[in-house]
Amino acid sequence: MKQKMLEHFARIYGDADGAEVFFAPGRVNMIGEHTDYNGGHVFPCALTIGTYGAVRRRGDRRLRFYSVNFSRAGVIESSLDELTPSSEAGWTNYPKGVMWTFAQRGMEMDCGLDLVLFGNIPNGSGLSSSASVEVLTGAILRGLYGFEVSNQDLALIGQYAENHFNGMNCGIMDQFAIAMGKKDHAIFLDTNTLSYEYAPLVLDGARIVIACSNKKRGLVDSKYNERRSECKAALADLQKVCRIQSLGELTEEEFEQYKGAIQNPVCVKRARHAVYENRRAVRAVEALKKNELALFGQLMNESHVSLRDDYEVTGIELDTLVDAAWGVDGVIGSRMTGAGFGGCTVSIVKNEAVDTFMERVGKTYQEKIGYAADFYAVEIGDGPQQL
Ligand code: GLA
Repeated sequence: MKQKMLEHFARIYGDADGAEVFFAPGRVNMIGEHTDYNGGHVFPCALTIGTYGAVRRRGDRRLRFYSVNFSRAGVIESSLDELTPSSEAGWTNYPKGVMWTFAQRGMEMDCGLDLVLFGNIPNGSGLSSSASVEVLTGAILRGLYGFEVSNQDLALIGQYAENHFNGMNCGIMDQFAIAMGKKDHAIFLDTNTLSYEYAPLVLDGARIVIACSNKKRGLVDSKYNERRSECKAALADLQKVCRIQSLGELTEEEFEQYKGAIQNPVCVKRARHAVYENRRAVRAVEALKKNELALFGQLMNESHVSLRDDYEVTGIELDTLVDAAWGVDGVIGSRMTGAGFGGCTVSIVKNEAVDTFMERVGKTYQEKIGYAADFYAVEIGDGPQQL
């Protein structure tokens, strides 16, 4: 891939002398969904698919960006003096947001750069292509300009850029999973304290399969921000009757005891999901440590039901994929993953059932939804690297 990226670079910018190649993964979350902005736990892992960047410093302050995935947009030009978001900037708002955040933190680039990106994360799949580009940009700036930042800093910088430059009020999960990824391990992260632990995700005789709904994800950002405010309203009501800073501090029993304080019935459902899902993530990791994969799968299934009925972020496409998956022998667990409203599902499927899974779920989906889903058996990989 390094060679291929250098070839792309030479094709776009004339030659690739002195260009370097970096990589950052995509991510999938196994359990703990919509808990990261509620002070709860998440359990994501980095994938071996992700975003590659070939890059070279320039002698002036210009910035040139080109994406193989959005080749029709051509080379998009900017400069270090124009680090402000704009709709014409398209996808380059992601790398620019990270450059802007570095500068905010006193790490000013002393010259511009030429960049070529290529991603093999399926577009709009919900496997965090934008967070991958953000962490990749951070790794590039660290490598090229010698800024001293840890991988955890790269995650925080990426999230800050997403929140304050790109206007998506996401939690820390995606950038953290990508920046801190470790081959064959998932990351059990307490989003309240950022303390974390790697847990081997060794699936004896089974694989992680992603099913991508291919649904256009138009309203994700606004719906996402709406869920955040509903949780915030629930928390404010609960704080009148108990001393908590976040929903993630409550056990299920405490929630049942205090939930009467929440005024809006919709917010009761949202908060119930946040509390129960956090506890499910904790129990799922305990189950995994004891090698109880069936229990882990069952908790994944329960997670989907809660996201469907209480959090209401699934929709007909994701529900169809998950319902069909539950009906296939050899499926240990299946749920939507990521923000929802489209995107993809994650399933743990026994090796011998993977082909049948893809065929049967694919057929049901096509018949019911009218277009095809895509399937990927994925591997868990490392965080950002220079190749
Ligand atoms: C998106 C956000 C994450 C997280 C998930 C839901 O991926 O970027 O921060 O909130 O949705 O779990």
